[in-house]
Amino acid sequence: CLNGETLNPPPIWLMRQAGRYLPEYMGIRSSVTNFLDLCYNSDLATEITLQPIRRFGFDAAIIFSDILVLPDALGQKVDFKSGIGPVLKPIRSRNQIGELKQVCEQEILKPVYESISKVAASLGPGVALIGFAGAPWTVATYMVEGGSSKGFNYVKNWAISDPEGFGELIKKLIESTTVHLTKQIEAGAEVIQIFDSWAGILSPSEFQRWCVEPVAEVVRSIKVDYPEIPIIGFPKGAGLSYEGYAEKTGVDGVSVDYTVSPAWMGQTLQRKTAVQGNLDPHILQVGGSVMINEVSKIKKSLENGPFIFNLGHGILPDTPPINVSHLIELVRDP
Ligand code: CP3
Repeated sequence: CLNGETLNPPPIWLMRQAGRYLPEYMGIRSSVTNFLDLCYNSDLATEITLQPIRRFGFDAAIIFSDILVLPDALGQKVDFKSGIGPVLKPIRSRNQIGELKQVCEQEILKPVYESISKVAASLGPGVALIGFAGAPWTVATYMVEGGSSKGFNYVKNWAISDPEGFGELIKKLIESTTVHLTKQIEAGAEVIQIFDSWAGILSPSEFQRWCVEPVAEVVRSIKVDYPEIPIIGFPKGAGLSYEGYAEKTGVDGVSVDYTVSPAWMGQTLQRKTAVQGNLDPHILQVGGSVMINEVSKIKKSLENGPFIFNLGHGILPDTPPINVSHLIELVRDP
């Protein structure tokens, strides 16, 4: 599919398919306080990765980890506080970049690569294993804001007032992301997804500089050694810029958020690249006839070209698991 083939029915997996909507995840989750301790325990991460595969029979497994293991490994410690989310000591100027470790600390991330090998060994044939990382821009937003943000004041203002200095941080992230993804491929990841969750807060020229160019660089470097590993990019909220992203980053597939119409995806984007998406996670949460109609619309628009069924963003924590089973039936129904 990511090589341009059209598959009928389309393969399906869901962003955040392992996680809080599954009681079996919550059981394991209660055994640790800091969420990252799950990511750094390869036995638990392996089990969590496999839970949705066993329950639903998705066509792909995504390794259970987080985009914020990277700043953690660079020495900017990440804490997940309940009710708040990730908390980091922010980096807000060029001279603080030197405090980060030179290359990404392999010791800390070793369990992530171990879980990939363990999952690869236990996945049945026909189930692809996806490795992932955050795109440099999105990871930078957490590093500069010190966690999740609403206004993105610090990171936007730094990028606008001192693009050279901010570019140093992005450069560091390009290098370490490339290493992190390469290690995942060496451990057994067969597909890579790059999450650029905050691509949508940039102007077109900023999007070019901070999303397209860094991702293109990561893709170029990975393809030198691993030209056969497909890479999916997810520039969430890119709107009119999705097309240029598909043309200029070198990715094999583009994951599209739910603000874009499936008709446009089919008529425009899919002519240039494989597409993935884009059911609104709230529609999955509600389920029923609204979901039936929407899935049929998405399938009609996209089934005549390379297409992977997914959500337009991650699955929401209070989604009933039965709606997920229903969704898979609808997608696979010819
Ligand atoms: O199943 C999968 O998709 C694989 C695992 C995965 C997680 N995070 C596990 C997780 C993946 C691919 C991610 C990506 C991720 N992490 C993104 C990009 C995708 C997106 O959602 O936009 C981002 C921005 C993060 C950063 C992050 N991780 C935040 C802001 C938070 C807190 C808010 C939230 O959604 O919970 C997390 C925590 C997190 N990552 C959880 C899980 C299962 C919940 C933690 C818990 O159980 O307490």
